[in-house]
Amino acid sequence: MRTDEVGRDGRRGTDGAGPDLGGPGLGGPGAAADVMTVRDRTVASDGVVTLTLARPDGARLPDWAPGAHIDLLLANGATRQYSLCGDRWDAHTYRVGVLREPGGRGGSAYVHDALTPGELVGLGGPRNNFAMVPSPRYLFVAGGIGITPLLPMIRQAELVGADWSLLYGGRTRTSMAFRDELARYGDRVRVVPQDEEGLLDLDAALGAPSSDTVAYCCGPAPLLDALARASADWEPDRVRTERFTAVEQGPPQRAQPFQVELARTGTTVTVTPADTVLAAARRAGASTLSSCRQGTCGTCETTVLDGVPDHRDSILGDAERTEGDAMFPCVSRSVGDRLVLDL
Ligand code: FES
Repeated sequence: MRTDEVGRDGRRGTDGAGPDLGGPGLGGPGAAADVMTVRDRTVASDGVVTLTLARPDGARLPDWAPGAHIDLLLANGATRQYSLCGDRWDAHTYRVGVLREPGGRGGSAYVHDALTPGELVGLGGPRNNFAMVPSPRYLFVAGGIGITPLLPMIRQAELVGADWSLLYGGRTRTSMAFRDELARYGDRVRVVPQDEEGLLDLDAALGAPSSDTVAYCCGPAPLLDALARASADWEPDRVRTERFTAVEQGPPQRAQPFQVELARTGTTVTVTPADTVLAAARRAGASTLSSCRQGTCGTCETTVLDGVPDHRDSILGDAERTEGDAMFPCVSRSVGDRLVLDL
């Protein structure tokens, strides 16, 4: 099962102390930082706003595919990740949906209160840890603001003529964003407000494993845990999820220190049990962008040139872990006594 992080307000990552660029400059996948202007702001439901972002000069934006997200580098110091939920064929604007998180640490509140039309905001990405794979049929399952990455997937499924259905749960009907956009799809969409109908019936939706269906699910941890139980008999790569929080990890495979060679400089650093690969690499001068520092946002993705990583992220699926050519050094470690990284 491939997992990826999206925060409770629709973003990935944490209410960190700010954009964590590390090292002497921006580097690594998706490291580009840019400035965007808020072109439009719309209330999508109780507690959710959508922002349409564009470059101040109207220039073309990088292409993206369903499942992608961007970083918003906020003036209050927080970096937040949000799924792109607009039209991927619109080359000049990005759209994100943001839930105001009452118990949050200021990121979503800032987006809601300060990012009004005309305001500027930093941009990183886009990146994609939740890519859509070809399939004749899709089952989409959304909980609350987890609907955002699924909207472009639904458009894509329609575009290629795939069969699909959406099970969309939320606290109340009025809290569920984008219902108007989804209404055009008729019976393919099942909207299930919890206060009217209770929880989503995942056993009914996933009870019989299907060899021609890929399930994509995004929502809060209890929903994804229930989905994992309901899909226990499915092939793992046919159930792909996007999580709000990091998956709990057991102890590291290696209790002793290990060496990490930073291939770009030839420097070797020692990573102790109390240290992270990311921190050790940065102390040696490596420039690596990071955000969540809990293995959920994908910002710090690093190519592994040699050695076997102890993957401790919540992003990679089993097949990707077996390939072993990428890791997230904010949390992942080494199985053996040495790793060589493209840093
Ligand atoms: S900083 Fe988010 S995965 Fe490493």
